Amino acid sequence: MYNREHLLEAAGTPMPLTETEQSVLMRIVDRHAADATQLVQILREVQASFRHIPADAMDSLAAALGIERAQVQAVAEFYTFFSTKPRGRYDILISDSITDHMLGSREIAAYLSERLGIQPGETRSDGQVSFDYTSCTGMCEQGPAGLVNGLTLTQLTRERIDRIVDLVNAGTPVTQWPREFFAVKDNIRRADLILKTELKPGSALKWSNTRGADSTLAEIEKSGLRGRGGAGFSTGMKWKFCRQAKSGPADAPAERYVVCNADEGEPGTFKDRVLLQSYADQVFEGMTLCGRVIGARQGYLYLRGEYLYLGDHLDRVLQERRRNHLLGSNILGEPGFDFDIEVRIGAGAYICGEESALIESLEGKRGVPRNRPPYPVTHGYRNKPTVVNNVETFAAAALIGLKGGAWFADVGTEKSKGTKILSISGDCAKPGIYEYPFGTSIRKILDDCGATNTLGLQIGGPSGIFISDREFDRVLGFEDLPTGGSFMIFDRTRDILEIVRNFTHFFAHESCGFCTPCRVGTSLLRNQLDKLCAGHGAKGDLVELTHISKLVKNTSHCGLGQTAANPILSTLERYPELYEQRLRAKAFEPGFDLDGALEVARRMAGRDDAHAHLEQEAVL
Ligand SMILES: Cc1cc2nc3c(=O)[nH]c(=O)nc-3n(C[C@H](O)[C@H](O)[C@H](O)COP(=O)(O)O)c2cc1C
Ligand code: SF4
Repeated sequence: MYNREHLLEAAGTPMPLTETEQSVLMRIVDRHAADATQLVQILREVQASFRHIPADAMDSLAAALGIERAQVQAVAEFYTFFSTKPRGRYDILISDSITDHMLGSREIAAYLSERLGIQPGETRSDGQVSFDYTSCTGMCEQGPAGLVNGLTLTQLTRERIDRIVDLVNAGTPVTQWPREFFAVKDNIRRADLILKTELKPGSALKWSNTRGADSTLAEIEKSGLRGRGGAGFSTGMKWKFCRQAKSGPADAPAERYVVCNADEGEPGTFKDRVLLQSYADQVFEGMTLCGRVIGARQGYLYLRGEYLYLGDHLDRVLQERRRNHLLGSNILGEPGFDFDIEVRIGAGAYICGEESALIESLEGKRGVPRNRPPYPVTHGYRNKPTVVNNVETFAAAALIGLKGGAWFADVGTEKSKGTKILSISGDCAKPGIYEYPFGTSIRKILDDCGATNTLGLQIGGPSGIFISDREFDRVLGFEDLPTGGSFMIFDRTRDILEIVRNFTHFFAHESCGFCTPCRVGTSLLRNQLDKLCAGHGAKGDLVELTHISKLVKNTSHCGLGQTAANPILSTLERYPELYEQRLRAKAFEPGFDLDGALEVARRMAGRDDAHAHLEQEAVL
């Protein structure tokens, strides 16, 4: 829709919007009822229509939404998928996850760069195409993956890149590109309680209407279900606290919210993608059940921007549920049981998976984590009591609503009831989705997915831990190895330090920048790993690496910073020799080559004697 070349804006001079552009902008605002809490959604549409967020549009949006311009600008600058400079008509991003690397993404990206004639981060001079890297797009078992104008591309090959470049050069709309470029498979390899048990839409709600909200909550508590997003908090307790929390004056109608966390940004995790693709009814049923228990009338599913391709499908499932009286007023004829769900889409920020940052984003703000306490169960969305649960948690809750708590609690271990859905990727013959009872050993999982010659695996994504081949008898579960579901396998041909380097780059890129230990610390860790991997590390650097890691872990404001050093600490503990082997004989080499930087001055002064050089070695 946006045809002007905005060269001045690209060069830093803001251009006023034309009348037509203003009316496009106002139509976007109207579609969102000029609701400032929808700022992220509004900016998504502005970005799609104008290929960037024009400076003039920020002024107009601030006026139309009744908020400060600074807020609009801060949000526009926070999310990776927004840009204040025009991007190409085709905006191509290549997934930079370690599992994509292992499938050849770096070579594919280099080839794309060569064919397009631009470097990562650049837009071609004709404005036709931009290309860059992006954090894991959640297609780890069918990479190398990427996005074009927000839509998922899978299984990229050189041949596909050739065809994509032709389509870009010919100006073929993305909607007319071959469908197979966008095919996303489920790859379910092992189904258990959650993936195998059939749930007829509405059946759990019908049961709940019969036995009542108290008894439904009692079943959830009896099941022992714990959150599947990583932290493992008791779901029954969370729902109970929220239900008991005061939402305002006693004479005002209660206002509570249900939020499904479908941000799934942890590299290596893609099981929520599959649940949303093939079990969406079950997830929505769990959310509705929660709404009934806590007395909420509105739910939101916060979908990560990388899963934009799922948006229409989810809206269709919601429409179908409304038609079948499973959403809306008096659900299934139960007077006063009113509940509806809306899908809100993120814009490329891993931190928005943290529940309080997610709520900020839902409110139209930057995804900066809140101080906790208070927790969302008492002060969540719009400062009202809110349950935030993971997609898998809601899918499990729906089945518990139908089958009862004992059915679920019968499976698993004492402290970890039920099953866990794993996203398995990396070095194995059969990557994909595997559901296991808690208590299953790592060895059994590796056997099932055809992993051989395994060096180790990263459990729980970069924020989790690295398990070596001496630990394969350990088991899944909160007692031993808790996980949000990411299971990345590495065989003996892999370089552990390169893996850790990829993870530290991820955290440095995704730190929201709010607190200093994480903002500065994750960058320092990234630089240290770069230095080590380039063979410039010295013994002092290892001391420094450990010191910064502990500092970042112990002093950061939220879970991102608190876990960012995990890959370093867990591999340093298990493989100190690998780090030692990379060190140079020198005790210390500075990250900045001061002597080299003085070369120009030496040449100008015509000197190259010993006194004109700086000695920079420090012995620690
Ligand atoms: C940096 C960070 C990212 C997170 N990302 C996710 C996520 O993508 N999905 C998720 O369910 N939980 C994520 N969490 C955990 C959430 O904060 C929260 O604990 C979870 O949504 C609660 O749901 P549950 O009780 O069902 O697990 C993340 C936490 C942190 C610190
Ligand atoms: S720890 Fe990192 S991500 Fe969390 S608030 Fe601080 S800067 Fe932001």
